[in-house]
Amino acid sequence: MRQDRRPYWVKKNYLRFRRWYTNHFLKPACDYLGDYHTCMKPWYISISGPNISIGKCATIIGEPDNRVKIGVWGREPETGRIEIGDYVMISPGTRISASDEVKIGHSVMMANGVYITDCDWHGVYDRTKRDDRVAPVIIEDNVWLGDHATILKGVTIGENSVVAAGAVVSRDVPANVIVAGNPAKVVKELDPEREMVTRADYFKDPAALEDFFDKVDHMVLSQNGFFNWLRALIRPTMRD
Ligand SMILES: CC(C)(COP(=O)(O)OP(=O)(O)OC[C@H]1O[C@@H](n2cnc3c(N)ncnc32)[C@H](O)[C@@H]1OP(=O)(O)O)[C@@H](O)C(=O)NCCC(=O)NCCS
Repeated sequence: MRQDRRPYWVKKNYLRFRRWYTNHFLKPACDYLGDYHTCMKPWYISISGPNISIGKCATIIGEPDNRVKIGVWGREPETGRIEIGDYVMISPGTRISASDEVKIGHSVMMANGVYITDCDWHGVYDRTKRDDRVAPVIIEDNVWLGDHATILKGVTIGENSVVAAGAVVSRDVPANVIVAGNPAKVVKELDPEREMVTRADYFKDPAALEDFFDKVDHMVLSQNGFFNWLRALIRPTMRD
């Protein structure tokens, strides 16, 4: 569909249902899930295992063919943790798997298909045994992980750095650089003098932001009629 034919009240109720679903099913799966979350299609987001916390203003996008999977599989019961800061963006297909510890800072952005893990999960010489070479992954504030970037055990990525699409990061990355390739290497330095606009800035007043988008929805959708929306669902035309 080229246009959103939903009446305003249909969209409003859909958003209410989405929030209810997130609070009812995903929030109890976390130690903490902050306010002002936007979980799109939350039924395609899996959160499993103990000690998972996600800060405020998180945007997490599930898709049917590209679930988001955030899971702790500790070495002992109730061990292992994933700590995710405020204002993060987690795109479809992202997987974050922790044996011991994965820590993700504020305003970190993860593009489609990102994979972050602190463990190789199988031994190199004994493939039947769980690998005990585990090392924490730390992703500092305002890092941007590009499409299908992979972050392996023991890696720390410094503040503001960018991991290019498809990069495989197996060693630490300093702050304020761009890394690319496999294994990822520094390809560019960022200018630390330049002002950085982050998701923390975008969510400075999350209540006002929600109010703004509600007003936009009202303006754009309030003329949409219920039966025309049904018609567009069943029998769309090129004008829909
Ligand atoms: C990381 C990125 C943002 C850098 O963009 P940029 O600042 O314009 O960087 P450049 O294009 O000047 O690239 C710098 C160097 O890195 C190389 N490079 C850039 N991206 C690369 C990649 N994904 N893999 C391998 N090399 C890459 C370039 O070829 C160039 O090499 P050279 O100096 O030898 O010519 C961009 O390359 C990228 O990966 N974008 C994808 C972002 C994404 O996943 N978006 C999804 C939505 S969140």
